[in-house]
Amino acid sequence: MEPLIKEILNSQHPIPELTARGWVRTRRASGKAFCFVEINDGSCLANLQVIAANDLPNYNDVESLQTGASVAVSGSLVASQGKGQKWELQARSLSIVGNADDSYPLQKKGHSVEFLRSIAHLRPRTNLFGSVFRVRSRMAYAIHSFFQERGFQYVHTPIITASDCEGAGEMFRVTTLDPCATYSTPPKPEDDFFGRPSFLTVSGQLEGEVFATALSRIYTFGPTFRAENSHTARHASEFWMIEPEMAFCDLRGDMDLAESFIQYLVRDALLHCADEIGFFDRFIDKGLTQRLEAIAGSPFQRVSYAEAIRILQSSGKAFEFPVENGQNLQSEHERFLSEEVFKCPVTVHDYPQTIKPFYMRRNDDGKTVAAMDLLVPGIGEVIGGSQREERLDVLGQSLMAHNLDPAAYWWYVDLRRYGSVPHAGFGLGFERLLMLITGVANIRDVIPFARTPGSAEF
Ligand code: 4AD
Ligand code: MG
Repeated sequence: MEPLIKEILNSQHPIPELTARGWVRTRRASGKAFCFVEINDGSCLANLQVIAANDLPNYNDVESLQTGASVAVSGSLVASQGKGQKWELQARSLSIVGNADDSYPLQKKGHSVEFLRSIAHLRPRTNLFGSVFRVRSRMAYAIHSFFQERGFQYVHTPIITASDCEGAGEMFRVTTLDPCATYSTPPKPEDDFFGRPSFLTVSGQLEGEVFATALSRIYTFGPTFRAENSHTARHASEFWMIEPEMAFCDLRGDMDLAESFIQYLVRDALLHCADEIGFFDRFIDKGLTQRLEAIAGSPFQRVSYAEAIRILQSSGKAFEFPVENGQNLQSEHERFLSEEVFKCPVTVHDYPQTIKPFYMRRNDDGKTVAAMDLLVPGIGEVIGGSQREERLDVLGQSLMAHNLDPAAYWWYVDLRRYGSVPHAGFGLGFERLLMLITGVANIRDVIPFARTPGSAEF
C-alpha cells in the first residue's frame, strides 16, 4: 500500500520518491511556470501541497484540473518553501484518476450544514465531515478498548426482536406481509415471517442481561431503532448504542462505570483527535477544547431526582415546560442542571417508578427505582441506565403494573429463577457522545446517513 497523506505529512525527513493519491481541493496557477494543487485523501485534516511544473508532459490537463477530481502524484517530498506547511510534493508525474467538472457541488468553502445534508454522499469530503467521521471511528475504537481492558465481553444482540425493551411502543414493524395486498381473510401474526409480530430492536439490553448473567461483564455496540416522531436536534430514528451490563453490580457501581467511561472517551479524543477538535473549536463551537478538558479532568456530580426537582422548582427560571414532581425531565431542565447549576456533567438517580421501564429495580421506598441518567452540558441526557430488578416476585409485579404479559418475557424472567444476581447497566447514545466531543449541534451531522421522520435518502 502507498502511504496515506497523514503518514506522508508526518515524515521526519525528505522522501526522494513516493506516490500520493487523493482528491483535489484547490488548484491555482503561479504564473505560467507551475501550479499549486492541494490534495486531500481524508486520512487527516491537512492537505498535501503538490507543485506541478510546466515541464510535466500533461501540464495542459493539470492546468484545467477541477476541484473534486482524483489524482495520483509521484515525485519527491521536500521541505516546503511556502508558509503553512512543512512538506510539499514536487511532482514528476501527475495522473488524473477520475476527472470532475464544474458541477461538483463542493467548489467553495463555507457551505451550510443544511445544504451539505442534501449531498450526504459528498459531504465526507469536506473538512468538517471528514473530521466528524474520523472522530467517530476513533471513538468506536476507544469504546472497544475501554471495555476490553476491563474484562467485558462484546456480545452481538439481535436487530430483529419480538420484545419492546423500553415499553414505549416506538418500534418499527418487520414484516413480509404485503401491505398493499387485499386479503380475503386478513393475515394473522402467525402468518408472518417469524410466526409472530416482530420489530427492529430499540435496545439490546434484555438479551445483554442474558449474557451478563453468564459472562459477568458484557457490552453491546450496535444500531437501534425508534419510531418516535421527535423532530429535535438530538433524536434520530436509527442510532447506535453502547450497552454494558455487569453482574454483581448495583446502581452505585453502574454510575461509577458511566462516569469513568465518559472521561476515558473524552481523554482519548483529546489525545488522538487533537487536530479535529482544534478545527471544531475554531469553526463550530468556540471553547470546545477547554470544555472537554474540564470534563476529562474534574469529577462529575450526582443528585437524586427528588433533589433535582427541588433545585429546578426553586431556581426561578422560566422553563418552556413546567417542572413537575413525578414527570420526566425535559431536555431544557437537564441542560439547566448541567450547564447552570452544576456546571459539569451530572448524574440524576432514583427516578419515580411510574416514568421508567419495567425492568428497573424497585427501591425500598416502593415509589422510586434505581435508575440513573447522565446529563452533559449542551445536550442533556447522553446515558440512561439502571440496576435491574433481580427479584422474581417483584419483577412479576412490575411486568403486570406495566401491562406486560409475563409469559411473553418467560426467558427474561427465567434469569431471576436460576442463580439470580444483582446486576446493572446503561446505554450510551453514540451520536450524543459525538455531539459532546465535536460540538456539532445536530445529530444528523454526526451519523453518516441520518434517518429521521420523513427522511431516508441515501
Ligand atoms: O435511555 P434509553 O432509552 O435507555 C435504554 O435504551 C436502556 N435499555 C439502556 C440500558 O440500560 N441498557 O437510551 C439510552 C441512550 C440515551 O441516553 C440517549 O443517549 C440515546 O440512547 N438515545 C437516542 N439517541 C439518539 N436518538 C434517539 N432517538 C435516542 N433515544 C435514546
Ligand atoms: Mg433515557
